[in-house]
Amino acid sequence: MPSAPHLPIAMTTADIKRTQQHFSDAAGRALRAGFEWLELHFAHGFLAQNFLSRHSNNRTDQYGGSLENRARFLLETVAEVKTVWPESLPLTIRLGVFEFDEHAELSFSESIQVLKWLKEAGVDLVDVSLASSTPGEQVPWGPNFMVPYAERVRQETGLQVATSWHIKGAQDADTFIREGRLDLVFLARSLLANPHWAFHAARELKIDESEAVLPTPYAYWLKQWELT
Ligand SMILES: Cc1cc2nc3c(=O)[nH]c(=O)nc-3n(C[C@H](O)[C@H](O)[C@H](O)COP(=O)(O)O)c2cc1C
Repeated sequence: MPSAPHLPIAMTTADIKRTQQHFSDAAGRALRAGFEWLELHFAHGFLAQNFLSRHSNNRTDQYGGSLENRARFLLETVAEVKTVWPESLPLTIRLGVFEFDEHAELSFSESIQVLKWLKEAGVDLVDVSLASSTPGEQVPWGPNFMVPYAERVRQETGLQVATSWHIKGAQDADTFIREGRLDLVFLARSLLANPHWAFHAARELKIDESEAVLPTPYAYWLKQWELT
């Protein structure tokens, strides 16, 4: 017997509320576990990004259609999380601000508006990232390629911004911060390749006491290591 075609099943309003409750439950657990920074993942084709994207959101209720409606899940989730996460600790989000397709500028201008709303809602910083909401995206991979988008977000929203993706060099990272293009640089693979990246960066940038960026036991040993 042929199998039935796969049809997407939309979340009910009860599903949405339950999921938002799960976000705040997780935030509460993170707080009790001692975390001092919470980042909500609203990027990379995850659920919140799918609510925001015109590509994936086909809803006809209050969570679909207009930008206000597509942003509702994100704003409500932030509000829910803020019921448990204290004002004194950073609350940040990761958002894919740009869909690299033929409507890229539209997705970017929509993201800017949503980020202004999220800033009003109490988000402290946006980790500017990829949307991954449509298979047609042509991502311009290359060194530092997300920095100009993050810089535009910073200028147009007044939010603090971070970004990652192919930022490898200490000089580049330092320049992006010093020139006020980014507030933070995030690294992933450079740190996998070299867990002491920050120490080597501090040395390269000729920062006094570069070992101060390390935990004391590592600092003691690495300080005495002949570095080329
Ligand atoms: C092993 C590994 C696991 C990752 N897992 C996640 C993840 O769970 N969620 C996420 O948003 N990004 C994830 N990323 C992407 C990183 O957050 C980062 O944005 C990306 O690697 C680009 O930064 P980079 O060029 O410094 O590696 C992962 C990357 C690596 C290398």
